Amino acid sequence: MSSNQFDVVVIGAGPGGYIAAIRAAQLGMSVACIDAWQNGNGGPAPGGTCTNVGCIPSKALLQSSEHFEQANHHFAEHGIEVKGVSLKLDKMVGRKNDVVKQNNDGILYLFKKNKVTFFHGKGAFAGQVDGGWAIKVSGTTTADLVGKHVVIATGSSARELPGTPFDEQQILSNDGALNIGAVPKKLGVIGAGVIGLEMGSVWRRLGAEVTVLEAMPEFLAAVDTQVAKEAHKIFTKQGLSIHMGVKLGEIKSTAKQVTVPYTDAAGAAQKLVVDKLIVSIGRVPYTGGLNPDSVGLKLDERGFVVVDGDCKTNLPNVWAVGDVVRGPMLAHKAEEEGVAVAERIGGQHGHVNFNTIPWVIYTSPEISWVGQTEQQLKASGRAYKAGSFPFLANGRARALGDTTGFVKILADAATDEVLGVHIIGPMASELIAEAVTIMEFRGAAEDIARICHAHPTLSESMKEAALAVDKRALNF
Ligand code: FAD
Ligand code: NAI
Repeated sequence: MSSNQFDVVVIGAGPGGYIAAIRAAQLGMSVACIDAWQNGNGGPAPGGTCTNVGCIPSKALLQSSEHFEQANHHFAEHGIEVKGVSLKLDKMVGRKNDVVKQNNDGILYLFKKNKVTFFHGKGAFAGQVDGGWAIKVSGTTTADLVGKHVVIATGSSARELPGTPFDEQQILSNDGALNIGAVPKKLGVIGAGVIGLEMGSVWRRLGAEVTVLEAMPEFLAAVDTQVAKEAHKIFTKQGLSIHMGVKLGEIKSTAKQVTVPYTDAAGAAQKLVVDKLIVSIGRVPYTGGLNPDSVGLKLDERGFVVVDGDCKTNLPNVWAVGDVVRGPMLAHKAEEEGVAVAERIGGQHGHVNFNTIPWVIYTSPEISWVGQTEQQLKASGRAYKAGSFPFLANGRARALGDTTGFVKILADAATDEVLGVHIIGPMASELIAEAVTIMEFRGAAEDIARICHAHPTLSESMKEAALAVDKRALNF
């Protein structure tokens, strides 16, 4: 085998690609991974959207801004008097950048450790050759590779509003939203989805007056209705001004301000004038530079690489995973697919269970869920039982000083199998893992109810909600 010939060539080193590369190498295959992302110095920055401008930096800023909010508004409840709390935004953003770099470096280390050959540049199809697919690398590194198998993991990019391109100064994508130089006095957000709520929360906590404009009439329509209603109430009380059912007019921006004319839900003409505007209206699959047409790689009408249930494309030995294919655009979904594809290439039975992919919105309180919502169960006519437990009745939540929200468990009326779990409250992101485990094993509410949970923990709310499914909660 020539030095540029590999069993597997992975294009993209986001969570889908880098994990696929590592798993394939663990299984004894020779693996190359190509990624184009550049850090501020033009060096490699593997980790994709997630590491560079997504999950990791947003969570770093969410944590820092939450500390700021706590110091300003909640320390006093604990008897801690702090005077003169001030914000050093450049330091906060600098810390966020350090966290990103630690993750970039971690992936480069993992590539070395697992003997994955990394190429910094753009990977493009250059035809079918003896031994596999020719892949041309251009950019920082140039190389001609041949992969017996190719895994496409090129991810997604932010969707623009027609006629309003991102300039990252006034009109911000997720990238610009993570790097605003000074807290805007007035910040507009288009789209009350996951990014809108997370980034809107960051800048509200840091002092911006945040207005969110959302096209849909219903707030967080994909979330369990009871949770969505509670979230709307809390976010509004915190100071996010959320307007549902709006229709945008033509947006105008100058170097100083952005004007957003819109029609509100009642049909009245309105105008929002802000210093900066975050546009977070979803993401689109990214295949730029991949040269898919040259080999006849099939994309659908929205630009996603078409795959079957096993992540196989229409081309032999070419696979695709993560945001660039159907399914939720989540880092852990991309990772699961990356592992499954590497295992299938290695002759094993890779497996992804789409029914047990958890969702988390990292606002405060956090929102998490897995499985079906109550409205979905009602629509499908499935008979179910519901049990809820409020954090207000949980000792640890009282000690923390955060008793907002509840845990709700939905179980089959006849078999008691857990069909969905919905949480709004402190550490919901961590608590959901237990629900995922139970559902993966197709366990029952009673299984959770009979498991010993440490006291005092927030996780006892999960046990109590499970007991409530059988109307026998002990602490409520
Ligand atoms: P990506 O992470 O997009 O990686 C693709 C990589 O491929 C990139 O590095 C790109 O440069 C590279 N690439 C593209 N084309 C080429 C080419 N031709 N040659 C070489 N390299 C190429 N998900 C969660 O689960 N939890 C969260 O908390 C979360 N927070 C988010 C916050 C924000 C602000 C955003 C925008 C997203 C967030 N996501 C979150 C979603 C998550 O980031 C994505 O689902 C995930 O990154 C998808 O992984 P991927 O590997 O498919 O693609
Ligand atoms: P989103 O799909 O979550 O929300 C977009 C919102 O914009 C929707 O509510 C939609 O109705 C609205 N919208 C669309 N067009 C509009 C218009 N013209 N005017 C007003 N509103 C409009 O997408 P978002 O927030 O951009 O995030 C993209 C994806 O990134 C998410 O779907 C998720 O997959 C991922 N992500 C995940 C996170 C997490 O797991 N915590 C955090 C952030 C992003």
